[in-house]
Amino acid sequence: MNAPILVTGGTGTIGQRVVPLLLAAGEDVRILTRHPGQDAPGVEHRQGDIVAGTGLVEALAGVRTVLHLAGGPKGDEVATRNLAEAARAAGVDHLVVISVVAADRVPVGYYRAKAASERAVAESGVPWTVLRAAQLHEFVLPVIRGLARLPLTPVPRGLRVEPVHVEEVAARLVEVTLGDPAGRVPDIAGPEVLDIPHLLDAYTEPHGRRYPRFPLRIPGAAGRAYRAGDNLADASAVRGRRGWADFLAEEAAMPAVPAVRRRTTP
Ligand SMILES: NC(=O)c1ccc[n+]([C@@H]2O[C@H](COP(=O)([O-])OP(=O)(O)OC[C@H]3O[C@@H](n4cnc5c(N)ncnc54)[C@H](OP(=O)(O)O)[C@@H]3O)[C@@H](O)[C@H]2O)c1
Repeated sequence: MNAPILVTGGTGTIGQRVVPLLLAAGEDVRILTRHPGQDAPGVEHRQGDIVAGTGLVEALAGVRTVLHLAGGPKGDEVATRNLAEAARAAGVDHLVVISVVAADRVPVGYYRAKAASERAVAESGVPWTVLRAAQLHEFVLPVIRGLARLPLTPVPRGLRVEPVHVEEVAARLVEVTLGDPAGRVPDIAGPEVLDIPHLLDAYTEPHGRRYPRFPLRIPGAAGRAYRAGDNLADASAVRGRRGWADFLAEEAAMPAVPAVRRRTTP
């Protein structure tokens, strides 16, 4: 048996796409999760909580490469620090971490936590790779759906996003995980930069209902950053090929969607 690749967040939206790709590449996978998991050929589970720092020693035993995808609304920087320290103690050769595009440019708690996570990795002493990804379509969809259902639809002024397809992010993560430690690699973002009216139009068109809209100003420093496009990837980013319309068509063609597909962290 190969040394397994430890995937934190292997049960999440991105992780569920990454694990089969690693298996297809001939790797064994160990998933760290807070819940009991069903082992399968090439896939084993270890229970632990990265924020609490539990289960890490057992999960890292015999592991050379770690792909850190676990994340939540709170505690990302604590989780990454705990994992990086445990990985150094375990003698891990490569720690790969997903972050978010513009982690150091948007003055919002989630982005600050991602920037702190990146620093924790860079200072850990473990050879590392960080890939910043834009928001997934799966993250943007419930936001747009929620806005579209309001009888008077607020449109955050100047906000633009560049949603990316989860399978393209997963493929790139596998590529960097199987490569050598590379530090910060080029960001990955979707093929289009879209404002909220465009996202809403594409969503509402097949549903045949479009409510009146009104402009909403996002206040404060966060609003200024979004209006300036500070949340967007620069020209060096790798761009996916599957856009918002492709994703909506895939969603529409999907008969039943497992609940876990909906669970996503920006
Ligand atoms: N979704 C996006 O648009 C997007 C964009 C850029 C970057 N990212 C980042 O990519 C990562 C994965 O995103 P995702 O959308 O796949 O997330 P997700 O679907 O919300 O899944 C979160 C994963 O994190 C695990 N997790 C959460 N807290 C944990 C803890 N304390 N200990 C151990 N595991 C924990 C969960 O595992 P269990 O529930 O099984 O324990 C689950 O597998 C996150 O760091 C996120 O910030 C996401």
